[in-house]
Amino acid sequence: MKVFCYHTPELTPTDPIPTCAVAIDVLRATTTIATVLASGAEAVQAFSDIDKLMAASENWPEDKRLRAGERGGAKVEGCDFGNSPLEYDADRVRDARLFLSTTNGTRALQRVENAPLLVTAALVNRQAVVNFLCDRAPDTVYLVGSGWQGSFSLEDTVCAGAIVASLLDRTDFSLEDLAGNDETVAALALYQQWRDRLVSLMKIASHGQRLLRLGNDADLEYCAKEDILDVLPIQKDKGVLVSS
Ligand code: MLT
Repeated sequence: MKVFCYHTPELTPTDPIPTCAVAIDVLRATTTIATVLASGAEAVQAFSDIDKLMAASENWPEDKRLRAGERGGAKVEGCDFGNSPLEYDADRVRDARLFLSTTNGTRALQRVENAPLLVTAALVNRQAVVNFLCDRAPDTVYLVGSGWQGSFSLEDTVCAGAIVASLLDRTDFSLEDLAGNDETVAALALYQQWRDRLVSLMKIASHGQRLLRLGNDADLEYCAKEDILDVLPIQKDKGVLVSS
């Protein structure tokens, strides 16, 4: 297995495609995806465009449809939810489909949608993703950070590092064997530096600060938790993620 870390969708090659892609948006899209699937949602369908989200969700039964839209950290008018993982109550989520559009996370998913295996990771479900990678042992793995509008995000890269750290613990690979690019080594170093202070890292991160300004302090605490959800969101059809 060779692991390649990319900090943004824009930096992620589309040719060749990897055997397995892991889309990461810790603040907050992939944390929300893991949370709603762990609460029994039927699927999460991701859209980069809000109008397309509205049109597709119109055809879905109203009591089984949740519409979430976020731009710049804030909720989009006309949607039921923004992108906070803490907004969803389990009764409302069970068996429903979440139609989701966010600033960067859904673009990261689109960038690697042609990979034969596409899963999403956040700190909350890191171990479930590592279990999957250990079981399937794909030849090439891309860890794709969503970043923020084309630039690097600390929280996505630290999650990539958390995945690499756990893969090294769980397998016989050395870092030299596993790392496909320099970013992978840097992601691991970032995680090793901050693993005991992940909430502090979220608060320093530029998108963390944006969310704090919008009053989302509890989201940062939640998104910084490791391995609390045993759920693996996996792409079933293009843009549609289910719990495996
Ligand atoms: C994104 O896709 O950029 C994020 O998930 C933004 C957020 O809602 O925090």
